[in-house]
Amino acid sequence: MSFAGLKLHPDLQRGLKELGFVRPTPIQTEAIPIALAGEDILACASTGSGKTAAFLLPIMHRLMEKPRGTTRALVLTPTRELAAQIVEDLNDLAVHTPISGAAIYGGVGMGPQEHALRSGVDVIVATPGRLLDHLRAPYAKMTGLEHLVLDEADRMLDMGFLPEIRRILRQLPTKRQTLFFSATLPAPIATLANEMLDSPVTINVERTSAPAAGITQAIYPVAQELKTSLFLTLLERNEIGDALVFTRTKHRADRLARALVNAGVKADRIHGDRSQQSRTAALAGFKRGKFRVLVATDIAARGIDVEALGHVVNFDVPMAAEDYIHRVGRTGRAEATGDAFTFVSPQEEESLGRIEKQLGKRLPRVVLPDFDYTARPEPKRALAPLRPSRGGRAGGSSGGGSRGSSGRGSGGGAGRGAGGSRASGGSRGAGSGRDAGSGTSGSSGRSGSGGRSGGGSSTRQRPAGR
Ligand SMILES: Nc1ncnc2c1ncn2[C@@H]1O[C@H](COP(=O)(O)OP(=O)(O)OP(=O)(O)O)[C@@H](O)[C@H]1O
Ligand SMILES: [Mg+2]
Repeated sequence: MSFAGLKLHPDLQRGLKELGFVRPTPIQTEAIPIALAGEDILACASTGSGKTAAFLLPIMHRLMEKPRGTTRALVLTPTRELAAQIVEDLNDLAVHTPISGAAIYGGVGMGPQEHALRSGVDVIVATPGRLLDHLRAPYAKMTGLEHLVLDEADRMLDMGFLPEIRRILRQLPTKRQTLFFSATLPAPIATLANEMLDSPVTINVERTSAPAAGITQAIYPVAQELKTSLFLTLLERNEIGDALVFTRTKHRADRLARALVNAGVKADRIHGDRSQQSRTAALAGFKRGKFRVLVATDIAARGIDVEALGHVVNFDVPMAAEDYIHRVGRTGRAEATGDAFTFVSPQEEESLGRIEKQLGKRLPRVVLPDFDYTARPEPKRALAPLRPSRGGRAGGSSGGGSRGSSGRGSGGGAGRGAGGSRASGGSRGAGSGRDAGSGTSGSSGRSGSGGRSGGGSSTRQRPAGR
């Protein structure tokens, strides 16, 4: 299948060619014709499989069929950074079209956003809270809206966002196309989503979600207070080139970033307590290769696309299997490969066990040779013990950022140190890791028909009210 075969507007095809998108990914092949036909969709496809273009392209095609002048499409996302990234994707795809887009999210001025809404920009990509702020004003009427997308749909419909989503839905025309996409759709959320869709075509919804196929996963059991030392050792030995590192709390993200900088590692951090300007600078700097390590809360777990990212490190075990799938999915995108390391302290074994149960497999345990697992930590390298979780999310729902336009620079060697790591009870043999491919060598050229959502299966569902 080619993009021409999908009968997309020639001006969109020109843009795709220039982006180096040779073939549609499986989710694009499957979803685009259905969306072009005006159907509602509930779709689940792996991280990095090209869902963004799968919903943007058919909407853009349909926008070009009619005169423009009012906002006709709205994409809702859980974070500011993701909203900004999707607008950039839109602008890339729209380069030979007159289609315009704008991002609307908190932490930055309302003025330019009001202007975009008043000028009737074609596509708005928004986080719910700030959009609702605008919707209170008369200039932000969404009466001409024809297409609504919930990206990261399960996150948007979980308890944190659901009330805001319901309030937004009340202000939108009921006659519209609605598209829900995510890499994870737990059953209760899929049911809830179905209630909001009109006779949706479902894609892969019944399949259990799993990390994308190109990701090599490894578990590093380690005492809580030795995690920083272990991470620094992996960096020093070049077992890790560049890495997006997730901690459970904002405080731990700050502390780890500080310890890294003190040890001479180029690092920054992104979480919900930082100013939007700092968040934007941190993510853009990481995307450009200015920082070798970006320490993040779950705010960066969903949707964020960092080209050629070699490693994701779960410095702390995430709360749920879905969080794990999205975090590790920041690597191994669009046919690329990558590594996901998870540090697990004895106190976290139980949480990890729950995740493994849901993933349906035990992940390989790795012991780093010549690392002193019994050492007393150097005081400045040790982070405070994990406090018991209060069940909340570390991330928060806001943010915004710009996306580095080019690929990452060479943030560090990616080759594995001689000897590699020793696996126990898993498939990862000593020195068996790939010694290339997880690198940070800049432009990775898009050649293949990325995506690993598999053959997929669409099923039409019985009509349900919105
Ligand atoms: N047809 C294609 N050919 C080559 N590369 C593509 C194609 N479609 C998308 N890509 C690239 O693949 C990468 C991942 O795409 P995208 O961000 O849409 O993934 P996703 O499925 O939304 O992942 P996530 O679940 O993490 O949000 C992006 O860099 C994108 O530019
Ligand atoms: Mg996405």
